[in-house]
Amino acid sequence: MRVPSPDREDWKPVENRPLPNIAVLISGRGSNLRAIVSAVRAGALRANVALVLSNRADAAGLDYARAEGLTAVVLKHGDFASREAYDMALVEELRRHDVSLVCLAGFMRQLGAGFCEAFPNAVLNVHPSLLPSFPGLHAQRQALAHGVILSGATVHFVWPELDAGPILMQAAVPVLPNDTESSLSARILEEEHRLYPSAIQLVLEGGWRIEGRRVIANAAATLR
Ligand code: GRF
Repeated sequence: MRVPSPDREDWKPVENRPLPNIAVLISGRGSNLRAIVSAVRAGALRANVALVLSNRADAAGLDYARAEGLTAVVLKHGDFASREAYDMALVEELRRHDVSLVCLAGFMRQLGAGFCEAFPNAVLNVHPSLLPSFPGLHAQRQALAHGVILSGATVHFVWPELDAGPILMQAAVPVLPNDTESSLSARILEEEHRLYPSAIQLVLEGGWRIEGRRVIANAAATLR
């Protein structure tokens, strides 16, 4: 292993090293995108949001991204003949922006094996339930209908199966007797906004590995 040393030609003090490029993929409102950008601006997430990409031209998150001066791109899935062709167009766009970590934030398209292989262990998602409970759509509605007492938010690596990859971070919230889908969603969303930027920072820092479907952090990193 090469130890960083000021004697080496390519050595740069930490503050001068380029920040890793991340992309945030959205389909709608973009509140997790806002949380990520706020964490970057606050210096809590040391990354550059190089690209915001949406599969829908009417995603409200795009207006926010443009107003913040971020690069915002629309790639409509309907313009492509197959899921694979769409996935490959996404990969091309992400590579064009030299993205090293892809963060799905309400991106309503399932990504296939080709996409996941192009970014090995470098695609994250946030989901509004304690996975593996309630994958898929309307996770909060599913939780209410099931009668669980706790639900929450999960940040996980993306595997081609829906909401199935190794879990990085989770936070639980109570389900209250008078909860509606919207009150429970709001309580969970607060946790999503707290968890997602720190999960991204943790992945970028390294100090973790995946064994089977478990994410193991070394002593310095924390998954809680
Ligand atoms: C979030 O609840 C997220 O967990 C789910 O989609 C929603 C996106 O919300 N995958 P927003 O667009 O980030 O506000």
